[in-house]
Amino acid sequence: CGIVGYVGQRPAELVVIEGLRRLEYRGYDSAGIALVDGGALVTRKKAGKLANLEKVVDADPLPPSTTGIGHTRWATHGAPNDVNAHPHPGATGRVAIVHNGIIENFDDLRARLEDDGHQLVSETDTEVVAHLLELQVVSGVDLTTAMQRVCSRLEGAFTLVAVDGETPGLVVAARRNSPLVVGLGEGENFLGSDVAAFIEHTREALELDQDQVVTLTPEGVSVAGFDGTPAEGRPYHVDWDLSAAEKDGHDWFMRKEIHEQPRAVADSLLGRRTRSGALHLDEMRLSDQELRDVDKIIIIAAGTSFYAGMVAKYAIEHWCRIPVEVELSSEFRYRDPILDYSTLVVAISQSGETADTLQAIRHARTQRSKVLAICNTNGSTIPRESDAVIYTHAGPEIGVASTKGFLTQLVACYLLALYLAQVKGTRYGDEIAEVMSQLEEMPGHIETVLSRADDVYALAAEHVGTRSVLFLGRHAGFPVALEGALKLKELAYIHAEGFAAGELKHGPIALIEQDLPVLCVVPPRGRDQLHGKMLSGIQEVRARGARTICLAEEGDPSIASYADVLISLPRVPVLLQPLVAVVPLQLFACELATLMGHDVDQPRNLAKSVTVE
Ligand code: G6P
Repeated sequence: CGIVGYVGQRPAELVVIEGLRRLEYRGYDSAGIALVDGGALVTRKKAGKLANLEKVVDADPLPPSTTGIGHTRWATHGAPNDVNAHPHPGATGRVAIVHNGIIENFDDLRARLEDDGHQLVSETDTEVVAHLLELQVVSGVDLTTAMQRVCSRLEGAFTLVAVDGETPGLVVAARRNSPLVVGLGEGENFLGSDVAAFIEHTREALELDQDQVVTLTPEGVSVAGFDGTPAEGRPYHVDWDLSAAEKDGHDWFMRKEIHEQPRAVADSLLGRRTRSGALHLDEMRLSDQELRDVDKIIIIAAGTSFYAGMVAKYAIEHWCRIPVEVELSSEFRYRDPILDYSTLVVAISQSGETADTLQAIRHARTQRSKVLAICNTNGSTIPRESDAVIYTHAGPEIGVASTKGFLTQLVACYLLALYLAQVKGTRYGDEIAEVMSQLEEMPGHIETVLSRADDVYALAAEHVGTRSVLFLGRHAGFPVALEGALKLKELAYIHAEGFAAGELKHGPIALIEQDLPVLCVVPPRGRDQLHGKMLSGIQEVRARGARTICLAEEGDPSIASYADVLISLPRVPVLLQPLVAVVPLQLFACELATLMGHDVDQPRNLAKSVTVE
């Protein structure tokens, strides 16, 4: 899942291990390193965290070297053990490679190698590529040409990085539908699955296209297609602040990112209004006419981003009167969805690299639909392959469980909904301006919620050892309940489920037993009946012994008699309530997981960006 490559003058061991550390946030379950040492390859790899690999290296030190590659693996083919960890050598150990992605025709390639007498020791698809690459190299072909030839035979999505033990000062990599960036230094060059791998050494980066091979020496970098045609990468400057990749005194990146949310929401709203007060989205590459032609919207996303999509449905349908479907990316293209040029597909992805979402937008485009990406990562694949993009301005999100990514996605969804309303004329300018003003007050409201974090932490302390928690919500509070439950599963490994409160009586109420904690997201009081209906739901679970923990707007006199615990939220409109209501749920999961001794930034089995389908 994390890839690092280095060639230059410095000790490669240090650069590679430090790069892997900066990529740890992507999630992984084993780690490894290979260095070229004057005519030979030296490899160390180990299951578990980077610290395990470092122990192996301490016990059996690596030789000095200035050429190296490293990897943190998130298991796809084969268990996360020492043997399956990368780098993988070829048959004679001359070449070693690291790989992200999945080689789809690996069974076939493996069978052919085995017929030719090759013995493969791991269960990985990667080792097959290592053998193929090495066959080319020992036959006298240079590493770059060898990589081009081998990649032409591979199906699937992959990033590959290789070194040849007999050629110090050379690292060769390839990519197809899987992330890889080049870092350009002075007398040294870097590779990483993202810029965090080398940001402390250089801010000059080179973006590669699909199906390209890049060759790195200390002196320079060259790019070519799989067929050998020379190509140019796209150079860009990385303006991330290095401190963004540090924890700033917090115990976890996640906690830091939760506290960055007021700033992130404010940044995502910045510069969206013209002097006349109209809304404008400067990165929107679709014309007003194209937007007016839209008669259906399908939102596709995975994980937390999917819940942002659910909130978007409520907002878009309410303000713009356009029908919206929300669908999991992984399900989308397999059900033969009905799409045409008047369908707008909105892909929400923090990382911009989620393979399920990427494949879904590719399918949508083959059906002539326009695709709009909502994304946090500049230069990533999903916005690049979309017709338009709205960037969220959360800054780099390191914690595996998304927090500020989610809140800024919500902001982008509201902006999209309001913009469509403006273009289609379904709402008056005054009304749009009023919602914009309410949105602009949100950073202050989120700050207020954060200032009461200690109350939530105390609540978390009472729940150490809890085996199950339910979350209830209605309307825009329903996705919040789902997200609250997801956070608890991801971080604290506690069984948690979110339900639409009205659905409770149709089944889930059977789960209620004495003292079961039920977190209830109470809609603000308003003209509709949502609030009253929610109170009925709370009463129903309380009558059956549940312990009700209610998130409700301050000054709500009706809630006190139903809540065993009350967490007050600022008074905001129902559609915008997710921006404040989800924050205590993030804090709750983060604190509970911490108290239970779990690694909050890298929960077990999870990855930050899942680049396999
Ligand atoms: C992974 C992460 C989740 C994230 C999901 C979608 O599973 O662990 O936290 O919500 O991917 O990621 P995306 O980058 O597409 O928003």
